[in-house]
Amino acid sequence: MSSQHRSMPNPFPGLRPFELEESHLFFGRDAQVAHLLQKLSSNRFTAVLGASGTGKSSLIRAGVLPRLYSGFLSKTGADWRVAIFRPGSSPFRNLAVALNQCRDSDSSQSPNTDDAAETLAILKRSSLGLVNFARYSLADNGNNNSSTTPNLLVVVDQFEEIFRFAAIVESDDEVADFVKVLLEGARNPAFPIYVLINMRSDFLGDCDRFFELPETINQGQYLVPRMTRDQCREAIEGPISMQAAGISRSLVNRLLNDRPESSDQLSLLQHALSRTWDRWDANGESGEIGIHDYERIGGMSDALAQQGDEIFFELTPEQQLIAEQIFKRITETGSDNRLTRRPDTLRQISEVVQASEVEIRRVIDIFRREGTSFLMPPPFVEVTSDSVIDISHESLIRNWPRLRQWADEENQSARVYLRLAENAQLYSRREVSLLHEPELTMAIRWREETRPRKAWADRYRSNFEDTMLFLEKSVAVIKKKARRRNRLTALAVVVLSFLTITAAFFGWDARRQRALAETQSKVAAAAHKEAMEQRAIADAARKEAMMQMQLADDARQEALQRRSPASSQSQRR
Ligand SMILES: Nc1ncnc2c1ncn2[C@@H]1O[C@H](COP(=O)(O)OP(=O)(O)O)[C@@H](O)[C@H]1O
Ligand SMILES: [Mg+2]
Repeated sequence: MSSQHRSMPNPFPGLRPFELEESHLFFGRDAQVAHLLQKLSSNRFTAVLGASGTGKSSLIRAGVLPRLYSGFLSKTGADWRVAIFRPGSSPFRNLAVALNQCRDSDSSQSPNTDDAAETLAILKRSSLGLVNFARYSLADNGNNNSSTTPNLLVVVDQFEEIFRFAAIVESDDEVADFVKVLLEGARNPAFPIYVLINMRSDFLGDCDRFFELPETINQGQYLVPRMTRDQCREAIEGPISMQAAGISRSLVNRLLNDRPESSDQLSLLQHALSRTWDRWDANGESGEIGIHDYERIGGMSDALAQQGDEIFFELTPEQQLIAEQIFKRITETGSDNRLTRRPDTLRQISEVVQASEVEIRRVIDIFRREGTSFLMPPPFVEVTSDSVIDISHESLIRNWPRLRQWADEENQSARVYLRLAENAQLYSRREVSLLHEPELTMAIRWREETRPRKAWADRYRSNFEDTMLFLEKSVAVIKKKARRRNRLTALAVVVLSFLTITAAFFGWDARRQRALAETQSKVAAAAHKEAMEQRAIADAARKEAMMQMQLADDARQEALQRRSPASSQSQRR
């Protein structure tokens, strides 16, 4: 049984949406597909709404389209041409390419670019662009008979991208014209033109920028419900049984219980299933897929981050840097911190990433290889310079911390540049002065760390050269001031040194004088002490002498008194 398993392709698309060809693997959405088709048949312009990751793109591609082709809408028949595209940064051009592809889908010829230019011209000529395309390119011999014209369904996937486009171009006019062409096409009674726009519901409020779009959405909208536990069970078990494989009951329950509450639950479930299948398949284990296979990929919460980091550390240090630059280029943080993808062609990516196209392609291929659907296009499509490189789903940005951090860094860097560019423009109009601290230090550090280039900056604002000049000027002025300050400081140092030496000299002299005085006073004190001692000795000697004199005097008196009686006796005789 295990050898059978190993030869079976993985039935789970991972992070990317299901495609039309994968409708046999698409489960759990039968009721919603029927409901949405009903909506579309009564409102030729229908908006499919829902949070990022609720399964909108998959619902349309693998649910609605196959049913249309099989004639589910009986009143319209099964003859459909479907132009499916993402507006990206050129909504009109991308619509023209998709229309040409669907027109030529019957023929074996590949659509040529001259035709695309012609279709683009038709689309842009008036708000009836879509109607005219149907009239001239789809109807037999360009006649006006709608009964001979196949139904045309225009699917604008990721409609919210037009808001970004509106923010980049100088005026909103082109985007407004694009919206008008869609609205007019779906309302024209002569041709069976249907429009499905698929949009993240957090952008719904932005639609009021376009005249009549809110009114039309009010009439026809379909909010994609979150899949219930039972529908998720179908989505797990269905694809596995299609491959004649099996999954243990306990793992199904574990997967259902591990789903997070957020709208990322379907992406995380899908990614975990795809990884678990690969791990089970690679180990060549016989029997059903079990909990141990699931646990080895890190479970639902860690599987994405674990796989992302595994691939990242597989790269050489140079490739890691390239990967970081690629992912930064194709993610975007909106004004209200809405994280979105920002697809770009390989050619444009290579203008920003500091590596050759070949080196960049090598890294992209690693992130989109079989079983690693981090980047699009899928592995079976060859990447050329004009291929659009995209993150497979926004949930990747939210659930792979490394990518989240890159997106934050990019956002931070863009904000510094935008502030600087704004100041540069105001400065050119003499409305503000050059940069001061602390902004200047921040800007210099930003320039050193990110080494911005024009191709990078143009994504955000086009006055890159002026901005860098403004920064240079600010630096030059600060340097000049610093030089002047240094000169003054040097002068101050000389003067201070002189003063210090002089003061030191005088200080020394004063000390010396003080020492002398001290010595003198000590000598004087000693002399005084000596004198006092001598005086005391002299006093003592004088006292001794006085005492001796007194004693001698006393002795003489005594002798005189002793002689006196003898002399008086002799006188009496
Ligand atoms: N019915 C389904 N069963 C299983 N996985 C699904 C189903 N529908 C969508 N997914 C998966 O959910 C994730 C988000 O789907 P997607 O169609 O891209 O959503 P959205 O367009 O709303 O962001 C993808 O990984 C996709 O493979
Ligand atoms: Mg989508």
